[in-house]
Amino acid sequence: MNKKLDSNELALWSQFVHELTGISLNEEKEYLIRERFHGLLKKYKCSNYSHLYFMAREPDRNDIREDLIDQITTKETSFFRDSAPFEALRKVVFPRLLEQCRKSGEKRKLKIWSAACSTGQEAYSIAMILHEMGVSAQEYHITATDISRMAIDAARLGSYNRFEVERGVPPALLERFFIVDSKSWQVKDFLKQSLTFQQIFLHRPFMLPDRFDLIVCRNVAIYFSPKPREELFSKIFRHLHPEGYLLIGSTETLGDLSNLFRETQLESRVVFLQANGKQAPTA
Ligand SMILES: C[S@@+](CC[C@H](N)C(=O)[O-])C[C@H]1O[C@@H](n2cnc3c(N)ncnc32)[C@H](O)[C@@H]1O
Repeated sequence: MNKKLDSNELALWSQFVHELTGISLNEEKEYLIRERFHGLLKKYKCSNYSHLYFMAREPDRNDIREDLIDQITTKETSFFRDSAPFEALRKVVFPRLLEQCRKSGEKRKLKIWSAACSTGQEAYSIAMILHEMGVSAQEYHITATDISRMAIDAARLGSYNRFEVERGVPPALLERFFIVDSKSWQVKDFLKQSLTFQQIFLHRPFMLPDRFDLIVCRNVAIYFSPKPREELFSKIFRHLHPEGYLLIGSTETLGDLSNLFRETQLESRVVFLQANGKQAPTA
């Protein structure tokens, strides 16, 4: 049942994965497809990967397509991942943004978007920083999105195991923001109240109703090829407040979008991006 895919099957699957997720599979794609989709052969009673492919292509099989997305996406994440950007948020970015929000006549909320939030650790880390800074839940809102329903459901639930919390949450924050029962650490309700979770496909046209002061889009564009990556950051640009900040992954680059963004180096060499003054973003 788990025999190697031939070049024809491989080409069809690569194209399909690209359509579903924007992800360009690398040279390990043959192994990856077999490994990640193997469980779905059994679930959908398919005799082989071609059978699964043609079934998933049927217009009314959104259930299979959602499962394929859940399986093929890499959801590696952790609380306070890479630490330095979170320090920069706490020391430089949030004080500046909060000042802007408080100065504005209507005292507007600070709006943050965690794009490709995976199972929620990134969004909750940001919320913890704001609470630690004394910012009330009424003063900010975090929109957390991902393509994977499974990831979004887990993020919304906010329940983590020992390994997940020990990978980044300092003990003092664990006590303040989590309720512990025998096996899980549950994010407390007061931390959840300023977060909303939704499914957004970053490789397709999307429209969120807000312009954000901070957009965090880390470790997702690395899976896209150059053109979809540039298109993604152009779409993100249109959702960024003119004075806002974009944070990308520490190993990522934007490609040739210097007409839209300029780099701003902050704490300990962390680079954030801001809208290039020449062109104000329009939603
Ligand atoms: C490696 S995780 C990164 C999580 C988090 N941003 C971080 O840096 O820790 C990549 C996430 O991107 C999501 N993803 C992949 N393709 C996507 C797409 N086209 N639209 C939205 N999210 C996508 C995956 O489901 C996964 O949760």
